[in-house]
Amino acid sequence: MITIEAKNLSKEFIIGIKEPGFLGVLRSFFNRKTKTIAAVKEISFAIEQGELVGFLGPNGAGKTTTLKLISGLLYPTSGQLHLLGHLPSNREKAMQMRFAMVMGQRSQLWWDLPAKETFLLNQKIYEIPDHEYAEMETELVELLELEDLLMVPVKKLSLGQRMKAEIACSLLHRPQVLLLDEPTLGLDILMQKKLRQFIKEYNRKYRSTILLTSHNMTDVEELCKRVIIINGGSILYDGDLGEIVQRCAPEKLITLSTSRPLERSDLERFGRVVSLNNDLAKIEVPRQRVSQAVGELLGALPIDDLSIEEMPIEEIIERFFIKDAPAFR
Ligand SMILES: Nc1ncnc2c1ncn2[C@@H]1O[C@H](COP(=O)(O)OP(=O)(O)OP(=O)(O)O)[C@@H](O)[C@H]1O
Ligand SMILES: [Mg+2]
Repeated sequence: MITIEAKNLSKEFIIGIKEPGFLGVLRSFFNRKTKTIAAVKEISFAIEQGELVGFLGPNGAGKTTTLKLISGLLYPTSGQLHLLGHLPSNREKAMQMRFAMVMGQRSQLWWDLPAKETFLLNQKIYEIPDHEYAEMETELVELLELEDLLMVPVKKLSLGQRMKAEIACSLLHRPQVLLLDEPTLGLDILMQKKLRQFIKEYNRKYRSTILLTSHNMTDVEELCKRVIIINGGSILYDGDLGEIVQRCAPEKLITLSTSRPLERSDLERFGRVVSLNNDLAKIEVPRQRVSQAVGELLGALPIDDLSIEEMPIEEIIERFFIKDAPAFR
């Protein structure tokens, strides 16, 4: 079943341009100059129930705008969009009850009150029966370590603490569709990891559909099998993350240390030397030659330690943008 479907979806923003200085202000008062920004350009995609999809792209690519369109916070300029069979911009109650959006930059919690107050308000809004509410609150409080935080006024929480409360608050009604805009923003490494585990589990347990944006590649790597890459408002790629890894990183990285200092000439015949520091080296070797190269290295050099890794996903995505993007279009 398709949960989110976009067809030739576009969003333009019209912004006023202000000229500098007093005369400029006066001039723009009588003759308003505007500029059109095409934030999202004719994008099409379909997301099935239960999918966990990563939305990637540089700053200003159009990710948040797309999520806002899906959640009905923005009205599309053209194209079609459906969420759970509804037109998001109608903001029907039946749709609101089954979906949630969490944004790193925007708070739904009441600033001066403890988060618990907003939780209880959401219980009323979403008509959550007491026993279900208690069950979900307990689960979320435990998982996100919120025990000591719920009774503190939100304005006194740190960014990460607020983010956790924010996420918990959005999940109390067990939305079937969850949009997460930069969910791990501001969280420490341990909490990022816990949150990722939670997102995975939430997706598995409730077969919920999750669309997330993140500049944190570990989030994407650990959570999303499918990614949609967007740049300048257009989709450059929609498919398996694994395929990008195969296509943009035809090499693997061999890291080795030896019992004597190494020379560049010791290594160059095996692959491209990425770094060399005394007895520690990294070389890039084509995938299909990795096992052969390892055998030869072990025979040729006094190896103490050796490991084979995929390229860091950051680098793969960077390569995608620099040189390989046209090949996917
Ligand atoms: N309310 C708005 N009014 C005018 N322009 C906007 C508005 N919101 C976004 N834009 C513009 O639309 C484009 C896409 O912005 P968007 O916030 O969707 O990017 P993003 O992919 O989420 O980037 P980031 O990774 O920095 O969060 C940008 O050029 C931005 O300046
Ligand atoms: Mg954004």
